[in-house]
Amino acid sequence: MDSALTTLLGIRHPVIQAPMAGVSTPQLAAAVSNAGGLGSVAVGHVGTEQAKKLIEQARALTSGPLNVNLFCHAPARHDAAAEQAWIRHMAPIFAEFGAAPPHELREIYATFVDNDEMLGMLLDERPAMVSFHFGLPAQAHIDALKKASIKIAATATSLEEALAIQAAGADLIIAQGYEAGGHRGVFDGRQDLRLGTLALVRLITRKTRVPVVAAGGIMDGQGIRAVMALGACGAQLGTAFILSPESSANPAYRAMLKSERAWHTHVTSVISGRPARGIFNRFMQDMEQAGTPPVPAYPNAYDAGKALHEAAAARGNFEFAAMWAGQGAPLARELPAAALLAALVSEMQTS
Ligand SMILES: Cc1cc2nc3c(=O)[nH]c(=O)nc-3n(C[C@H](O)[C@H](O)[C@H](O)COP(=O)(O)O)c2cc1C
Repeated sequence: MDSALTTLLGIRHPVIQAPMAGVSTPQLAAAVSNAGGLGSVAVGHVGTEQAKKLIEQARALTSGPLNVNLFCHAPARHDAAAEQAWIRHMAPIFAEFGAAPPHELREIYATFVDNDEMLGMLLDERPAMVSFHFGLPAQAHIDALKKASIKIAATATSLEEALAIQAAGADLIIAQGYEAGGHRGVFDGRQDLRLGTLALVRLITRKTRVPVVAAGGIMDGQGIRAVMALGACGAQLGTAFILSPESSANPAYRAMLKSERAWHTHVTSVISGRPARGIFNRFMQDMEQAGTPPVPAYPNAYDAGKALHEAAAARGNFEFAAMWAGQGAPLARELPAAALLAALVSEMQTS
């Protein structure tokens, strides 16, 4: 199935394996690229040195094109009073697991927006594509990447964000519907129109000139065909790849995704400070109750969320984990990435 996506990147199938910070691996990206799709290396959650290592690990396993994905969130608004109120509110849950909450919250992920060191590494490594989540970096960064013949993509959850991405000169718009697993790519975490994939893809394909890749709730070849019928040039799938042996999802996450619990996903900001969809758990239930103080900014809130998960997991409780998954979660298949891609392609062609 040729499309603007396959032509842009010289790939055989119009499928991008979604970057999934902490869940996708260089092995997963390489397997997808070797099988004719576009594999993504997520580096939004790591520093430059580790990012370079992840890219090199993928490169050692494939000579195919790779996408490298970065976070472009606004630098965190530190608010000591709000952070202390949040920590105090969580303290009784930490105590349940015999642990104390952190004294303060750290900005655990640096944004790429003004990160010259990361830019330099990307210009050296020259992946086929670089994609942005949570916004756009400085225009000078985009221009430098384009000058190095690196294709540019960015997530849009609204027409307004799509128009900004077009104005920045991107090659692809990743239209992320509300069905999607993981963090919403909203530029401002407090403003979310919550548009579904179907409406969003039509809005953006009708009103922009940039090729659109659909993301959110797409789990099989029928879904890929459907979004291409809507005008998308391909699909980006995340949740569909979590059960692949090449992902780094732990046994508890895998078990949850295969259980009845996968039928209930929920978008929440309480885990990280930005809206994200995952399997409903006690973390969401407890911290969304009336009387909970306002959640601190991303990614500072995530520092507390990760500490709470660690404390609970140490006692064998996984109710405080971020088990990100989209609305199509119950349709996830436990297949090696290449076999999954082959199944997707066969479904696109035959059903
Ligand atoms: C576990 C997980 C982690 C994710 N991490 C990222 C990320 O690091 N960068 C990014 O751009 N998107 C991330 N996403 C969102 C995906 O890019 C994509 O929008 C989403 O997976 C599509 O919906 P689906 O999960 O229903 O296929 C993540 C999604 C999941 C499920």
